Amino acid sequence: MNLPQIVERNIGLRRNMKPQFFNGELIDRTTIERILNVANWAPTHKGTEPWRFIVFEHEKVKEFSKRHAELYKKFTASENFSENKYHSILHKADAASHVIVVYVNKTEHAIPPLQEEIASVACAVQNMLLMATALDVAVYWGSGGMCYHPAFKEHLHIEEKNVVMGFVFLGKVDEDKKIPGRRKTEIDSKVQWI
Ligand SMILES: Cc1cc2nc3c(=O)[nH]c(=O)nc-3n(C[C@H](O)[C@H](O)[C@H](O)COP(=O)(O)O)c2cc1C
Repeated sequence: MNLPQIVERNIGLRRNMKPQFFNGELIDRTTIERILNVANWAPTHKGTEPWRFIVFEHEKVKEFSKRHAELYKKFTASENFSENKYHSILHKADAASHVIVVYVNKTEHAIPPLQEEIASVACAVQNMLLMATALDVAVYWGSGGMCYHPAFKEHLHIEEKNVVMGFVFLGKVDEDKKIPGRRKTEIDSKVQWI
């Protein structure tokens, strides 16, 4: 395969893989560092390099889940609280090797505007997802639970001005659990040629 074919193939193989399909295998630090390193090569207006990561590794993943679930319990009004959701947050990462909290370190200046900083961090995440795919590491980008709640930021000492972009769960998946991707429509329906 030539380079464009390799790139197309790798992009086509990337899937958002639910962590309940992970098999519990742990991933070594060097592999995760490789995945993080490509995040650092995302496009960045004015060179602000706004991507930031908090990595929960191996046995600390359980701590992440516990802290996340407790925040949900503490900051959800009793009439909205769901025991199922609490358990889902608590156990979602049970078979994950790492969980990475991704956030935008927002510049103090008006330029780049926030949407550009968010775009830049989304590119950093996609770089990670693609590198993980190439390394046969399963990845899940999720934004559920307390992701966007101010209490979550406060808990992790993320400054209020910053924006949490979600959690990336990483793990290993058995071959027979891998799923093909699908899109509702082909690219032609989303492109206007002039
Ligand atoms: C910003 C963002 C947040 C997401 N949050 C969730 C989520 O909370 N739960 C989830 O199941 N998928 C989440 N996804 C992943 C999408 O569900 C997934 O990309 C979509 O189903 C398409 O599948 P694919 O990525 O395997 O092609 C998120 C994706 C993005 C870009």
